[in-house]
Amino acid sequence: MTPVFELEGLRVSLCQRHRQTELVKGVSFSVSPGQCLGILGESGSGKSMSIKAAMGLLDKGFFVSGSARFQGEELLGKSAEELRRLRGGKVGMILQNPMTCFDPLYRVGAQISETFAAHTSLNAAQIRQRSMEMLKTMRIRHREEVLEKYPHQLSGGMLQRIMIGIAAAMEPALLIADEPTTAIDAITQAEILDELIRIKRENQTAMVFISHDLNAVSRIADEIVVLNQGQVVDRGDFHHILHHAADPYTRLLVEKRAAVMRRYRSVLEGKEADHA
Ligand SMILES: Nc1ncnc2c1ncn2[C@@H]1O[C@H](COP(=O)(O)OP(=O)(O)OP(=O)(O)O)[C@@H](O)[C@H]1O
Ligand SMILES: [Mg+2]
Repeated sequence: MTPVFELEGLRVSLCQRHRQTELVKGVSFSVSPGQCLGILGESGSGKSMSIKAAMGLLDKGFFVSGSARFQGEELLGKSAEELRRLRGGKVGMILQNPMTCFDPLYRVGAQISETFAAHTSLNAAQIRQRSMEMLKTMRIRHREEVLEKYPHQLSGGMLQRIMIGIAAAMEPALLIADEPTTAIDAITQAEILDELIRIKRENQTAMVFISHDLNAVSRIADEIVVLNQGQVVDRGDFHHILHHAADPYTRLLVEKRAAVMRRYRSVLEGKEADHA
């Protein structure tokens, strides 16, 4: 099966005043339909940069080489217009801060409609119906009212859910979520993760899920890569990462998780007093 998304030896460097800094140093991975790749790594390790480079979201100062393919087609070298059409169409992107993805000056409903209008041939009435269906799928209540609201009148979690809903409604072949749960509380985080898992299962969507959180990644990802200073330092399924990860950053993440699990078990077993 042809992978949906594939990076091969992807490199990104930044050229400033005749100095070249290498930010991504030969990253390779691939994702198949219905599969989720989790990308872990500490802040600044090159997680977002790798995705942005592949999807044409870096400005001119960056030099990108290697290969990034979507459904077998090379992305590097495609025109800005081609890549823009791909994003929001066959490739859905969910970004860290939902507020930055909505224009504060326009009602949420208008912004949802605009996306549907740009990427489908539906008429106004059909778009309205699709918008309502999308909100329902994303378990949003008071849907008529929500469409009339401005972004600042809705919570971060709700905007995030709408953003995922829009991305999923386009039935993308690939859905990229870059730290989609960082800006929201733990309960909403779990719900967002549930939605993504449902989308993956029901639509056979290939996914890339970027996070600092090993717990979140372990719930959704079939395969995990860990980045450190622009390189893949560990790779494998959750079990492999848990038991055989070699990189110190990965070990730290695993130990943090183990500590949480130990505490959880001791609470369950009624040993809470021992730890008080
Ligand atoms: N616009 C930019 N100009 C110069 N350097 C940048 C720029 N954006 C990112 N970098 C650098 O590139 C490297 C990789 O950054 P990247 O944004 O990919 O990190 P990340 O792994 O996504 O981190 P985080 O978890 O904080 O989102 C970092 O060293 C960062 O400082
Ligand atoms: Mg990032």
